[in-house]
Amino acid sequence: MSEESLYQRLGGHDGITALARTVFNNHCKNEVIKNRYAKSDPENVVQKVGEFMCAGFGGSEKYTGEDMLTAHTGMNISDEEFNAVVNDVMSALDTHNVAQKEKDEILVALWSMRPEIVHV
Ligand code: HEM
Repeated sequence: MSEESLYQRLGGHDGITALARTVFNNHCKNEVIKNRYAKSDPENVVQKVGEFMCAGFGGSEKYTGEDMLTAHTGMNISDEEFNAVVNDVMSALDTHNVAQKEKDEILVALWSMRPEIVHV
């Protein structure tokens, strides 16, 4: 029996888009990183991050944004900021009652992207 994809377990397109929205709302309240998003169009960020997660977690959605290295190059993002983003994602998963197994899988995925995001 094959396990459902992370995409399916998180509630597919609608579940993941709702998650992306909560993550962005958390960023806007997080003193460590909120200034980074001061000039962002919230709908665009939710759309891009939602697509990125859908595509990465096994959905058929196409990601239309930049790769992680290109998107974050020149921002000189610190370890503290990276940890703040990870915390906001974990907190959003709690808000949406996502179980520990899925939280662990997402934590590993986030951590694997760290070299393309921190100090690039
Ligand atoms: C594993 C962690 C992260 C992931 C998966 C991620 C993902 C993304 C994605 C998918 C985009 C959209 C790119 C595009 O529009 O083409 C983006 C943009 C951005 N990210 Fe990250 N990111 C991460 C960490 C961070 C961190 C630590 C910061 C610093 C606080 C950060 C700040 C930004 C900013 C400022 C943008 C541009 C938003 C805009 O378009 O207005 N990201 N990120």
